[in-house]
Amino acid sequence: MSDTKYLFRRNRTWWVKVAVPAALRDELGYDLRRSLRTSDLDEARQAREPVVAEFRRTIADAERRRRRMCHEPLDSGSGFVVTAREDFSDVTFLLEVHHPQLARAAQPGQFVLVLAHERGERIPLTIADFDRDAGTFTMVIQAVGKTTREMQLRCQVGSTLHAVVGPMGCPSDIAGAAKVVCVGGGLGIASIYPQLRAFQERGAFVIGIVGFRTEELIFWEDKFRRHCDELIICTDDGSVGIKGMVTDGIEVALARHPDVDELVAIGPPVMMRACAEATRPHGIRTTVSLNPIMVDGTGMCGGCRVTVGDEMKFTCVDGPEFDAHQVDFADLMSRQRRFRDKEQFAAERWARSLETDTADAPGGGRR
Ligand SMILES: Cc1cc2nc3c(=O)[nH]c(=O)nc-3n(C[C@H](O)[C@H](O)[C@H](O)COP(=O)(O)OP(=O)(O)OC[C@H]3O[C@@H](n4cnc5c(N)ncnc54)[C@H](O)[C@@H]3O)c2cc1C
Ligand code: FES
Repeated sequence: MSDTKYLFRRNRTWWVKVAVPAALRDELGYDLRRSLRTSDLDEARQAREPVVAEFRRTIADAERRRRRMCHEPLDSGSGFVVTAREDFSDVTFLLEVHHPQLARAAQPGQFVLVLAHERGERIPLTIADFDRDAGTFTMVIQAVGKTTREMQLRCQVGSTLHAVVGPMGCPSDIAGAAKVVCVGGGLGIASIYPQLRAFQERGAFVIGIVGFRTEELIFWEDKFRRHCDELIICTDDGSVGIKGMVTDGIEVALARHPDVDELVAIGPPVMMRACAEATRPHGIRTTVSLNPIMVDGTGMCGGCRVTVGDEMKFTCVDGPEFDAHQVDFADLMSRQRRFRDKEQFAAERWARSLETDTADAPGGGRR
């Protein structure tokens, strides 16, 4: 130990301090420190060693707990139990969660805020399905960053989500349209399902258009077929259905059905903007479900602000569905990129903590 390492002086008294690694600061604070109750440097040097050793043990214990936790199924002791899980691809997975109150109240178009564990980040996810009799609701999640990848790793059947708030947002307007096109792409494929089913149950003629990269990634085809009068599948590589984007599917649908009176699209902003442009010349009412960054979900923080026509709207309380022809998509996309460096930092730090864990495990090495 170098001469005054870990020692500092305040108000004529020597203190000892050990820095806490960044990953443990939520739990232990920036550093561990204690007064040695002496103003004499030699006495302080003598007294610091057992305290430093104790602090090192505390840090090592916390580190072990954290690493164990990174891999363990989530279990907050209470919360909402995951009753089913299905993996559709290496990044897309489904969680069915027991929450009778929410299942009773849920309407198409609404979403939930999920806090997977006590120290997690609260994220918005669409209610992709609900079963009022079984008291469950379903989310389909794409593992894109730290929180969703952690959920992919740790949410198993029987594990619990610490908190689920919802249903949030305004339900979809499914009245009116006699012939409707429902378009889902990317993470919007599952999200479009409740609307599509509701339109069909209300008696509308429903044309579903779903876009996947390739055949192996297709999911819920049976569910879509059950609730669509026509289903158009588009794949990037042409392995099934139309080779191309969902906008190619829209062209086909509108050529077959010039009397379509509404289109609903959910997916990445670029896709929703393209859908809006595809229907604009036809004057078809078009609705999109926006996905800006949300924080509180109550209209207070302004994080989910979007521009629709000349107005500023908060997606969490005014949306998430808006008139696609009025949405400023460029503004939406630039606001989504605001925290990219922080998101990347969080994901990389979390990924590193997993690598350390496997390297330290008996037998060592990566999986
Ligand atoms: C109303 C709504 C419904 C959504 N429904 C689904 C869904 O059903 N399935 C699904 O997989 N994803 C859905 N999302 C997006 C999902 O919330 C983000 O993918 C998730 O928050 C990413 O968190 P992360 O830590 O894994 O990734 P990060 O690395 O934090 O971010 C990855 C990407 O997600 C966006 N994002 C990050 N934090 C948030 C946040 N708090 N709110 C919104 N976007 C964020 C970022 O702009 C970034 O592009 C929805 C978003 C909204 C607003
Ligand atoms: S998430 Fe804070 S205002 Fe909408």
